[in-house]
Amino acid sequence: QKDGYRFFMEKEIYEQSVVISDTLMGRLGENEIIFDELDKTLFDGINEIKLCACGTSYHAAMSASYLFERYSKIKTSLEIASEFRYREPIMTKDTLFVVISQSGETADTLETLKMAKAANLKTLAICNVDNSSMVRLADATILTRAGIEKGVASTKAFATQVSVFWMLSLYIAKRKNSLNAQEIASHISLLREVPSHIKVTDAMHERIKRLSKRYLHGHGFFFIGRDIFYPLALEGALKLKEISYLHAEGYPAGEMKHGPIALADPELFTIALLPKHLHYEKSKSNVEELSARDSTICAISQSEFDKADDFIQISSCEHYMLEFFEMMVVLQLLSLEISIRLGNDVDMPRNLAKSVTVE
Ligand code: F6R
Repeated sequence: QKDGYRFFMEKEIYEQSVVISDTLMGRLGENEIIFDELDKTLFDGINEIKLCACGTSYHAAMSASYLFERYSKIKTSLEIASEFRYREPIMTKDTLFVVISQSGETADTLETLKMAKAANLKTLAICNVDNSSMVRLADATILTRAGIEKGVASTKAFATQVSVFWMLSLYIAKRKNSLNAQEIASHISLLREVPSHIKVTDAMHERIKRLSKRYLHGHGFFFIGRDIFYPLALEGALKLKEISYLHAEGYPAGEMKHGPIALADPELFTIALLPKHLHYEKSKSNVEELSARDSTICAISQSEFDKADDFIQISSCEHYMLEFFEMMVVLQLLSLEISIRLGNDVDMPRNLAKSVTVE
């Protein structure tokens, strides 16, 4: 049931605070992450992690690649499942093969898991649906505990996937000694703050509702960000495409000058992710370049940005991962409100199915 919300997607955006608490439950020790479901030897002899997924789950995987290299100091590569399965990839035994899937049934991702098994790689599935095909097939599983997701556009599944990856990066860091106990403990206290940072406030939702009016027509959207905010930009653009049918692209902020900035004009909307705690100055100067070429800018940040036409303020927080989750909610609400204004069926967007079990 929608419990008074207009769409399941809206309900699921609001639910995120609760489901993330479930994701974290029992997994946050004092200065270590507890994954009882993992065999203690899973990472023994592993020198590389390969992450493989489709769509939104691929964006979560891309976010993980930043966390794994930064905190776990382990080489991480990223694969789109539909590409990987046909490109004769090299698979070495010191690689842990990780599939990420909300449903656990996506045909392309499942096929890559079979390939990894056939190559005798250790495998891990990060899934939301227990007893799904991937869960049954993989050597190890971490469940994301998002609950049933009804909206075709994935929201809470993504939030829980990223939370699991943040925890997993610390779990590996402990085994690889790449972070000390104190550093891990301070991440754990940040993780405990996630549920409160992704709570939707009335003020935030109202602001986005009002602001969405400006963004119904135009040439299209650029969502830009740096570092881990690049996969978040990709995810923001995918959400908008899926339910509003407007053209949107996610870009690394530093890439604009290598071509895309040629599109800048007032009808080109830039949604700029400006985290205070990660490459702020660099990202800001990329946005200034777009502003100087008259793109209409909507900045999402902790503090006002004078070059922006619109500004969505996230609450103050002391770490970029908390900014990540705050911005994630803003992007989800922005897509939702634009889609509703356009009169679309948010939960059943045209041409899409919840689970893609055919190629
Ligand atoms: C987007 C969306 C899709 C899925 C993709 C993979 O909102 O839901 O892009 O993320 O089809 O599905 P799973 O995660 O079930 O493998």
